[in-house]
Amino acid sequence: MDTKNTSPSTPGKLKPEKYHPPYNIHRIRLSKLTIYSSIFLALIIFFFILSPPSPSPSSLKTHNSWGGPAWEKRVTKSARRTSASSLTVLVTGASGFVGTHVSLALKRRGDGVIGLDNFNRYYDPNLKRARQKVLSRAGVFVVEGDINDANLLHKLFDVVPFTHVMHLAAQAGVRYAMQNPNSYIHSNIAGFVTLLEASKSANPQPAIVYASSSSVYGLNSKVPFSEKDRTDQPASLYAATKKAGEEIAHAYNHIYCLSVTGLRFFTVYGPWGRPDMAYFFFTKDILKGKHITVFESPDGGSVARDFTYIDDIVKGCLGALDTAKKSTGFGVDGKKKGNAQYRIFNLGNTSPVPVTELVDILEKLLNVKVKRKVMPMPRNGDVKFTHANISRAQKELGYMPTTDLESGLKKFVRWYLDFYSPLKNKSVW
Ligand SMILES: *[C@@H]1O[C@H](CO)[C@@H](O)[C@H](O)[C@H]1NC(C)=O
Ligand SMILES: *[C@@H]1O[C@H](CO)[C@@H](O)[C@H](O)[C@H]1NC(C)=O
Repeated sequence: MDTKNTSPSTPGKLKPEKYHPPYNIHRIRLSKLTIYSSIFLALIIFFFILSPPSPSPSSLKTHNSWGGPAWEKRVTKSARRTSASSLTVLVTGASGFVGTHVSLALKRRGDGVIGLDNFNRYYDPNLKRARQKVLSRAGVFVVEGDINDANLLHKLFDVVPFTHVMHLAAQAGVRYAMQNPNSYIHSNIAGFVTLLEASKSANPQPAIVYASSSSVYGLNSKVPFSEKDRTDQPASLYAATKKAGEEIAHAYNHIYCLSVTGLRFFTVYGPWGRPDMAYFFFTKDILKGKHITVFESPDGGSVARDFTYIDDIVKGCLGALDTAKKSTGFGVDGKKKGNAQYRIFNLGNTSPVPVTELVDILEKLLNVKVKRKVMPMPRNGDVKFTHANISRAQKELGYMPTTDLESGLKKFVRWYLDFYSPLKNKSVW
């Protein structure tokens, strides 16, 4: 397959407008064929001109640089584990919110960790760089590159015999899909496939633990959401690509005997969180004295989320890695050794909180009177309600969330005020 044709769909503003030929159904087939083949030809030329060898251009990406003896030395050092029973983990999206916390937790207990991150500009890259500094100080090297870069992935698997991949890189956010739909396909589908391709031909084959999302439940109204519930009614493109990821993982499990575990995260929040999430930008706007828009559902009810604190999520991720069985595929030479493990878990908090209550808590913690604007929720991809049934994760991963929203937000606010303090000497980070 020619990957060149997919690379230019890299997140970015430079995007070919789809050409809709003004044909009508009465035209003869031949002319349709001519139109399609010219479009095809034009597209090939277009992509050819637009894409220099590598890396592919993108306004959401910074430059990727990797390779060389010094680089390999850093990779090897970061991947070193303290005992033979420790894991060696490739963490994608390592400078992301969950990626940073998981990488630190793994490193702390003696596992070898290599991060991978493209540092794209979906949200403030300074925050990602600050997280990278924290990781670097803990001894975690974050390779700067894209999961769509098959050569880079092969190089990493050549240099390090990864036992596990913790795949957290993704295009997140529900509403942004209306602005930049292709970035979701690029990261959540094409990127995931590139990673699975590299993993299935690695020797040893790693076990894969990947991030899915509670959004796959979409319009499902049966609560609490159980893993067996229907997930075929996504309400956003984000959700659709996350669901596609689960199906793609299943296919790789079936054909190549990769051990795969999907984790459906429910509204993860906490220190070092993502600025595009409500609790984060509410805090920012409240401190600036701006109005807060709180959505209510079309039937007048409140919108609620099963907010899950980052430390609880990290425990779930480590539980998934620790209980993952080895892949049983053929790697580069051997034979299949029977079916590999295939699992999906909800990682939530089991107690949905109305967004109005989230604002009440922030009001109290920030000690600022909040100006609220209540509006009906627009149909832009958000769902009304999420609520996790976590009994499967409890049983198989030992997962048990212990942080309620107020305690978690207190830690978030403390971090936020510290990190964004104008008095703070930023070089500390
Ligand atoms: C939660 O999921 C388990 C299966 O994992 C199921 O047995 C149980 O009935 C579910 N609980 C509720 C309240 O739906
Ligand atoms: C901030 O950090 C820089 C670099 O470490 C240092 O030179 C400077 O004196 C610091 N400023 C304050 C106010 O601490």
